[in-house]
Amino acid sequence: MTEKSEFRRYLVDIDSISTHQLFTDCLVIGAGIAGLRAAIEAPADRGVLMVCKGTLENSNTFKAQGGIASVLDKTDTFESHIEDTLSTGCGISDQEIVESVVRQGPELIEQLLQWGTEFDLADNRIATTLEGGHSHPRVAHGHGDETGRIIAEALIRKVRQDPDIRILDNFYTIDLLTNDDDKCLGIIGFDQKRGFQIIWAAKTILATGGAGRLYRETTNPEGATGDGIAMAYRAGAVLQDLEFVQFHPTTLYIAGATRALITETLRGEGAVLVDNRGCRFMKDYHEAAELAPRDIVSRAILAQMRKTESTHVHLDVRHFERAYFAKRFPWINELLESFDIDITKDLIPVRPSAHYMIGGVKTDRSAATSIENLYACGEIASTGLHGANRLGSNSLLEGLVFGKIAGQAIAQSSKTSATHLKHPLIKNKIPHSDRTRLDADDVRNSLRALMWRNVGITRWDQPLAEAQEIIRFWQRYVMDKIFDSPEGWECQNMLTVSLLLAQSARNRRESRGVHFRRDFPETDNTHFRNHIEISRDNGAK
Ligand code: SIN
Repeated sequence: MTEKSEFRRYLVDIDSISTHQLFTDCLVIGAGIAGLRAAIEAPADRGVLMVCKGTLENSNTFKAQGGIASVLDKTDTFESHIEDTLSTGCGISDQEIVESVVRQGPELIEQLLQWGTEFDLADNRIATTLEGGHSHPRVAHGHGDETGRIIAEALIRKVRQDPDIRILDNFYTIDLLTNDDDKCLGIIGFDQKRGFQIIWAAKTILATGGAGRLYRETTNPEGATGDGIAMAYRAGAVLQDLEFVQFHPTTLYIAGATRALITETLRGEGAVLVDNRGCRFMKDYHEAAELAPRDIVSRAILAQMRKTESTHVHLDVRHFERAYFAKRFPWINELLESFDIDITKDLIPVRPSAHYMIGGVKTDRSAATSIENLYACGEIASTGLHGANRLGSNSLLEGLVFGKIAGQAIAQSSKTSATHLKHPLIKNKIPHSDRTRLDADDVRNSLRALMWRNVGITRWDQPLAEAQEIIRFWQRYVMDKIFDSPEGWECQNMLTVSLLLAQSARNRRESRGVHFRRDFPETDNTHFRNHIEISRDNGAK
């Protein structure tokens, strides 16, 4: 690594910008299910400030279709949900965390119902359906395939009704502020209306979501650029399991159209996968066919695409009754109609894409990170629930449970006020750069293509190493520039997280869960039945 790509503590030169300053006892960064739930649980007697990159309505949670998994039926058991989660996690889930999350599910879902979440009902009970890896239909859904939206809307209503929670939207968090002892003191950010802003916070909760946009093909919205992971890394937090990126098998593939998730619950309710000759193929790859774990279905689709020299496969739902389909999957129905796809006659073109970041900022059972005063929950956190593979619809549940835990942890911590925090920060002088012709958009697009090609569903050492070399080269001229808008900072964060992800993928010289190495196709329990941690002190810069 050359001088120019040297590690930078902050992306902006905090000495040189005049800032507005705010103080809060509890700061929540991010407004998906985990951030919202954390804000609701945070202590009412302390001011809570919530900041989010866009608006409350454009989080990744909003896009969740399939549902939220929990034991909601008398014929289901906690033991079965625990067992399904552990076996999907391929030996490295944290059993205590799994048990705790699964057992808290029904109560927290009941609470959502009381707060106005309109889950779909059957016989006056929450209706549940099946997804791959679940041995019981336990996926609750709302408005058919708009589960994320109806949950988020109920939580947003609750947050907006609470006079103790202030919300700053269109606020881009640039960096976590830390002092010499690596304690978190708040953030520096950029408010679209007011410009640069320092927020001093006694406690900070990171709930910024995932990093699907590192990949050319993804189900994630534009905001999922891994900002939280990158800023936690710069602040010195321990990250873990970044190599575990879950690829969703079925994303609508129409050249030129935005990639959109086609929920797994469709397969749970009978949709089948066929190749471009119209042949079903999943039985050739796994006995559970279309309901095999997602990593297996994703790799099978890739293999079948190669075998049949095609860019995609198809979902066949032609046996569904039109009216039922429109009611059960209204969002997908509208989407397909907008492309003139008639579900009773046409096949739906799909292929896999990056969907969920299993790894992230390492947290303990109270959602605390390795940095004092900093908590994390939701997709950004690595709690140990998912292990090496996430069971479908367990993530909304995790966000709900750990959002609550993070808020509670702050409520139980000793009350400190942010007003005394204004003291020396770690500073870094950023050398002047005169790169005026740098096109951050072009770097992002090239990076996303590189990640898809070299750090995608099937990996091996040489392309991973090549990806690192190329990213380091880009970093040489992108990281020394001081940007003044989110597009540039996002690009820098994406480079940082991509490099760390490629490094973690190289470090895990085995195949486990969603991480498949062609050069190490076996699971190696002797050397790798553990987590791979990465931090400023031992990571790729
Ligand atoms: C889906 O609806 O297929 C996605 C649900 C999830 O990722 O948990």
